[in-house]
Amino acid sequence: MSIKEHKILGDHRGKLVALEAGIDIPFEIKRIFYIFGTQVGVPRGQHSHHAIQQYLIAVNGSCKVTLDNGKVKQTYELNHPSKGLFQDALIWGEMHDFSEDCLLLVLASEHYDEADYIRDYDEFKKIVNA
Ligand code: TYD
Repeated sequence: MSIKEHKILGDHRGKLVALEAGIDIPFEIKRIFYIFGTQVGVPRGQHSHHAIQQYLIAVNGSCKVTLDNGKVKQTYELNHPSKGLFQDALIWGEMHDFSEDCLLLVLASEHYDEADYIRDYDEFKKIVNA
């Protein structure tokens, strides 16, 4: 997983980024949600999913995302609306270091389903290291 730089389109009127499911986003998008009103020093996420895949874009402001496959953790910075980060299923994710003006857009491959969440880190480790 790595930060993807999407092409910035636009002209003298302003800028635009277009993302197409199955082309720029590696899944069909069934849900979007966005996170805002976050607080500096207060992390979010801290869970994994059994099957849901996500794609994260800080459309305003910035934040960091730490992804963990159970063996290796890597931290990415989303600080421009042209940058996106894919979070696959069975990857533990934490969003943190939000700027006050951060608006984090998340595209998801499935509808909301609490049963798809793995919220316990020890359980996550057991599943991925099995
Ligand atoms: P949660 O997943 O805990 O947020 P985060 O991972 O960003 O820290 O979700 C917060 C609340 O919102 C929780 O009560 C579940 C609810 N929720 C939905 O109803 N639909 C959704 O698509 C999402 C992502 C969360």
